[in-house]
Amino acid sequence: VNTAPDTDDAADPGPTPYELLGGDEAVRRLVDRFYDLMDSEPEFRGIRALHPAELAGSRDKLHLFLCGWLGGPNRYLERYGHPMLRARHLPFPIASAERDAWLVCMGRAMLDTGVPDGLLDRLLRSFFQTADWMRNRAD
Ligand code: HEM
Repeated sequence: VNTAPDTDDAADPGPTPYELLGGDEAVRRLVDRFYDLMDSEPEFRGIRALHPAELAGSRDKLHLFLCGWLGGPNRYLERYGHPMLRARHLPFPIASAERDAWLVCMGRAMLDTGVPDGLLDRLLRSFFQTADWMRNRAD
């Protein structure tokens, strides 16, 4: 909350997605649901296979990263430095099918954890931009 007396309200960007979701614990619930779905649903077998057998590290990193990506504390940056996401994903073949599977999995995780419609649509569009930028193989 900005309490500066001469602040122009029109410049207030409003609550961040991080705040709208419900903060750290809500982001953790979302990430846990995302990886639980990826780990159990046959349709996500392809992207699941790109990940390590044990998902604990993937859960922790995506949680820390998303807190910052959603406008909250940038804890990934503090711990690991700049994420260089595209470079970090280069070892994994990502074409449209993998991008779309990731987005469907995240969309379902948002539904399952009760993210409100308007916020869900807005986040899905942002996730699409990032996921699309991660594509590194032709279809
Ligand atoms: C487009 C489809 C995507 C696929 C197939 C994919 C797959 C992967 C895989 C296999 C890893 C390595 C997991 C590990 O080392 O534990 C990873 C790491 C990661 N991914 Fe993705 N990913 C995708 C999109 C995204 C998107 C859209 C985001 C963010 C919005 C994201 C954020 C991350 C982060 C933060 C890490 C951890 C990086 C690190 O510190 O090593 N990924 N991803």
